[in-house]
Amino acid sequence: MRLKIALIGACALLCMGGAVAAHAEDKPYKVVDGYKVDSETMKGFRAWRAAACDRCHGANQEGLVGPSLVNSLKTLTKDEFVKTVTNGRLDKGMQSFGNSPVVMDNINQLYAYLKGRSDGAITRAKVEEMPK
Ligand code: HEC
Repeated sequence: MRLKIALIGACALLCMGGAVAAHAEDKPYKVVDGYKVDSETMKGFRAWRAAACDRCHGANQEGLVGPSLVNSLKTLTKDEFVKTVTNGRLDKGMQSFGNSPVVMDNINQLYAYLKGRSDGAITRAKVEEMPK
């Protein structure tokens, strides 16, 4: 009985530890010095520029006619992000990018870039590719 409880306790600790470690690796972006990012995140930034999301969300994602994406991505799930960007919210002024290859081909990278901005890990909007 004692042993069983001990085993369950050990498992709980190990499993929780695993979950925490997995979470740390879950970050979709890599960044050093606040602005040197991996090549995938760089593609996200290029898609952001190419699609000119900044027209409505601000050059620093701080919000303009559209909301601050720094704030939005603190609560918006990735699925909600993808859905919103793909379909837009036409009645509310958010256009749809489902027909934009530059956005749709880089949607994961775009999310990674914006998530990094939202997390405060990417400290300036204009990023550079980190040296290999
Ligand atoms: C023409 C202006 C415009 C452009 C361009 C635009 N957006 Fe939006 N976006 C909006 C508006 C307005 C909203 C708020 C809609 C609402 O009230 O629900 C919004 C909402 C969003 C949301 C949901 C935010 C939330 O808190 O629910 C995301 C994510 C988003 N935009 C991402 C993007 C991305 C990424 C791009 C570029 C690929 C982009 N937007 C380009 C106007 C724009």
